[in-house]
Amino acid sequence: MAANHRTFIVFLGPPGSGKGTQAKRLEKKLGLPQVATGDLFRYNMKHNTELGQQARAYMDAGELVPDELTIRMVEERLSQQDCAKGAILDGFPRNLNQAVALDMMLEPYGGVTVAPLFQVDDEIIVERISGRRVCRNCGAVYHIKFNPPKQDSICDICGGELYQREDDRPQTVKNRLYVYYKQTSPLIGYYFAKGILEKIDAAKSVDEVTMTLLAVLKRYGIVE
Ligand code: AP5
Repeated sequence: MAANHRTFIVFLGPPGSGKGTQAKRLEKKLGLPQVATGDLFRYNMKHNTELGQQARAYMDAGELVPDELTIRMVEERLSQQDCAKGAILDGFPRNLNQAVALDMMLEPYGGVTVAPLFQVDDEIIVERISGRRVCRNCGAVYHIKFNPPKQDSICDICGGELYQREDDRPQTVKNRLYVYYKQTSPLIGYYFAKGILEKIDAAKSVDEVTMTLLAVLKRYGIVE
């Protein structure tokens, strides 16, 4: 293995399939940061940066933010010190253009290591997304039925207020699913052709999905 080799895990899968939940669980275990493009955009929106203002209309409609902005943001994020060993990419790439751009970025480090594909039916996705609540302060993710906070609407970790994401409303979710099948699902073939696609049954419980992922990552020599 080359001396400058790094580990980049691309989490693929529809909205609400559990990518963020698992990325947060694995960060510590793998020693790799979660790089979630949705979270980065939401951070910029919250702080009303120029990027946040540019992204808002696309996100509220459930459309992809233009590639030019997204790719630049990811490139900048991956150049930060905490990505010196690699990263868990959650929500990027989202189309073929982004996938090719990522390959170019990661070329010096051995490219994408593995692409777990979170598979789950649309029915479950709708149930998961409609019950999702997020902490306004620290970004922790809950579900009113599957992972409820101890106290209603209050974050267990920091005491912040829990809210429903603007794009988690039913009409926008429908469009996000449409965008996923149209623009993102071609990436399944892209990573399959590279021999690094790994299908994960993401309909199982959070713990079971973590176990499945860890077994896959072990085969790739990413965890012991
Ligand atoms: P983004 O934030 O990336 O949203 P997403 O991909 O649609 O993914 P989600 O955050 O909805 O779901 P998730 O898979 O992480 O599920 P989670 O773990 O939260 O993107 C939002 C927007 O940003 C896009 O629409 C676009 O506008 C823009 N954007 C982002 N990236 C972009 C890019 N690359 N290019 C252009 N634009 C981009 O779980 C969901 C719920 O289910 C939670 O409540 C959780 O508690 C629960 N849950 C999780 N796992 C389980 C389980 N196993 N069993 C039961 N419940 C579970």
